[in-house]
This record gives sequence, C-alpha cells and structure tokens, in this order.
Amino acid sequence: MNYSRNILVTGGAGFIGSHLIRLLVNKYPQYRIINLDKLTYAGNLRNLEDIEQMENYVFVKVDIIDKDRIKAIFQEYAVSDVIHLAAESHVDRSIEDPMEFVKTNVLGTVNLLQAAKENWNKDGNHIFHHVSTDEVYGSLGAEGYFEEVTPYDPRSPYSASKASSDHFVMAFYHTYGLPIKISNCSNNYGSHQFPEKLIPLMINNIVHKKPLPVYGKGENIRDWLWVVDHASAIDAIFHEGRIGESYNVGGLNEWTNIDLVRHLCRLMDKKLGRADGESEELITFVTDRSGHDLRYAIDAGKLESEIGWKPSIQFEEGLEKTVDWYLENESWIKQVTDGSYRGYYIQMYDNR
Ligand code: NAD
Ligand code: TYD
Repeated sequence: MNYSRNILVTGGAGFIGSHLIRLLVNKYPQYRIINLDKLTYAGNLRNLEDIEQMENYVFVKVDIIDKDRIKAIFQEYAVSDVIHLAAESHVDRSIEDPMEFVKTNVLGTVNLLQAAKENWNKDGNHIFHHVSTDEVYGSLGAEGYFEEVTPYDPRSPYSASKASSDHFVMAFYHTYGLPIKISNCSNNYGSHQFPEKLIPLMINNIVHKKPLPVYGKGENIRDWLWVVDHASAIDAIFHEGRIGESYNVGGLNEWTNIDLVRHLCRLMDKKLGRADGESEELITFVTDRSGHDLRYAIDAGKLESEIGWKPSIQFEEGLEKTVDWYLENESWIKQVTDGSYRGYYIQMYDNR
C-alpha cells in the first residue's frame, strides 16, 4: 500500500496519544501511523488493543532522545510528518525529579526537530506538530484568559520543560524554516488516563473508599477538556492550521478542584448505589503542592474563528462517560496500579 502520509506520532501509548492514534488510523486509511513510544510507566499498549491489528498502524519502542534510532525510524518509514506528544507529563513528578523532564521534554524534542530538519526536503509537504500545554503561560488570578500572545511564564519544572520545548520548536521555524505548528491545551480528562492525575485518581479512590487528597484548600482552578475533543482539535490544527502558528485549545470549562471532587463524589454515590454524601466524607485536605498555579483558563477563540473547531460535549456528559469507563474497566485500572500492564508489550510484540 502506498500511503499519502507516514505520520510519526510520539507518545502514542499514553493517554492523549492513544486517543489521537485511534482517531487517525480509523479516519485516514490513506495514512500510515507510526506510534513511537519508550513505554515509560505512563505508556500502556493495552490502550490501543482495539486498533493494533489495523494495517495502517505500526508500533516501535524507541526513546526520543536516542539520536541513532530516531534517524533510522525516519528513514525506514519515510516519515513525512510528526505529531509530537511524548513527554513526562505529571507536575508532582517534575517537582521530585526535574532532570527526567529536561531529558525527554527538552532534549528529546530537539532531537526530533533535528531529525526532521535533516530528513525533510525544504520544498516537501511536511508538518511537525508539537503538542503542548497551557501551563507554559503560568498562573492566572481571578480574571482573564490565556491567549496565544500571552507571555510565557512557567512556574513548575514540568511547565518550564514544556515552555523550553515550545521555544525550540518556534526557533526551528524561524531559523531553519522547519514547517511547525504548536497547540497549547488545557487539562484533559477521559478514559485511559494514568491514575496519578486528579480525575482518575479520585475515581479510583472513591471506588476503593480511600482518602481523597485535595491539595491546600481545593481553591485552585483548572479548565477541563474531554480528551476525545483534544484529539479532534489536533486533527483540525494538523490539517488546517497555519504553519509557524500556535493555537490554544480549551473548552471554557473552569472548576475549582474542590467543586469538581464534590461533583464526582455525588455522581459516583449514585452510580455505586451509595448513600448521598457517603463519598464526600473521604475528602482529606493535604499539604499544598509547592508553587501550585492558582488558575488556568484558555481562550480558544483563534482556533474557533480560523478553523471552526469547538468541543463536542459538555463537561457533565464527558465526566459521566469517563466515570462509566473506569467502572466498566476495572481490570485496566488494576493492571495499571499493580504494574502488570507492562507485560502486554512482551506478550504482544516480543513474542512475534
Ligand atoms: P502521558 O504521560 O499519559 O503519556 C506520555 C507518553 O509519552 C507515554 O506513552 C510515555 O511512554 C511516552 N514517553 C515518555 N517519555 C518518552 C521518551 N523519552 N521517548 C518516547 N516516549 C516517551 O501524557 P499525556 O497526558 O497523554 O500527554 C501527552 C502530551 O500532551 C504531553 O506532551 C503533554 O505535555 C501534553 N498535554 C497534556 C495535557 C493533559 O491534561 N494530560 C494537557 C495539555 C497538553
Ligand atoms: P493534575 O491532574 O496533576 O494536573 P495539573 O497539575 O497538570 O493541572 O492536577 C489537577 C489539579 O488538582 C491541580 O490543581 C492539583 C490538584 N490535585 C489535588 O488536589 N490532589 C491530587 O491528588 C492531585 C493529583 C491533583
């Protein structure tokens, strides 16, 4: 089969990457999707078991900082485009160990940019789409929204590493003319998210009647977007966004952490047949995260006016779908929390 594009998706075994790959392999049989992932603790090939037999899908286990392997992959698969999601993604881990974030998020990104620059013809039809976060803009007070022109002001080692990677991506556009696009998205939620992040962690703890650790007073605000809508935004920007531009992605959906956790408790009491208010008793206020950003809120007006993208569902509906998925997929969350999901690679790929 002659594919019209050979798209290298990095970090495709993670939360957002697996949703994006599912969308791309189904929607574009004319493209070959090469999923490149190191399979860190956050990479789980079970996330893709429904599509891994499709003809236009390939998986390769590679670390993005491995220069020689990246070069070989570009050549072996005639990579025409990159959608780059591979990253260390959890703020609390970045506070514990910033160096892993520098290696993967900064060095790994520059390594991929170099490979694209060296392998792509200047007149070719290529795109390097870098997937980033709104956390690069820092922390908002009670008013205002992040816009694409908001100055970068990262506060955590995670956001500092992502901001640095964004700057390198832009630098490769301005200096070498590499055809890049950047998207900066707000907090995602949905199925297949590693249960260290707020929503799946709370869902799992509610199921098991464990304490629900809310940092500080729970007054910090996050702007939540359903992961499937983020994948559709990446698809839209990849195909219709302008080269050299960045696009904010979000759903105008701000919640304080405490309101969100209470809402989840009420929803799950109903689903689990518990007395109303039972799960709320599990809420435990714990020491605040160091340098905890107060508020994130995205203005996605540029994406809507230029490309016409909008989120497809309301938060309450998306959250209910998410809770249902975790309740129906207890084996997924059990394997992720006991570590046994890591054997899936060996079973599916090493034994072929
Ligand atoms: P995730 O932690 O679920 O997945 C990251 C994936 O990258 C994993 O599969 C992991 O194995 C892989 N990976 C890590 N280091 C690697 C390396 N050195 N080489 C190859 N693969 C490696 O992350 P996610 O939540 O799906 O986020 C994906 C991207 O989207 C990240 O770049 C993140 O910064 C960005 N983002 C995330 C959110 C969010 O709310 N989760 C919001 C906006 C932007
Ligand atoms: P998180 O899901 O880690 O995403 P991010 O820090 O990238 O926004 O956290 C979302 C919010 O929830 C953030 O304000 C920190 C807070 N939080 C808790 O209160 N308790 C927890 O156990 C976790 C993981 C997060």
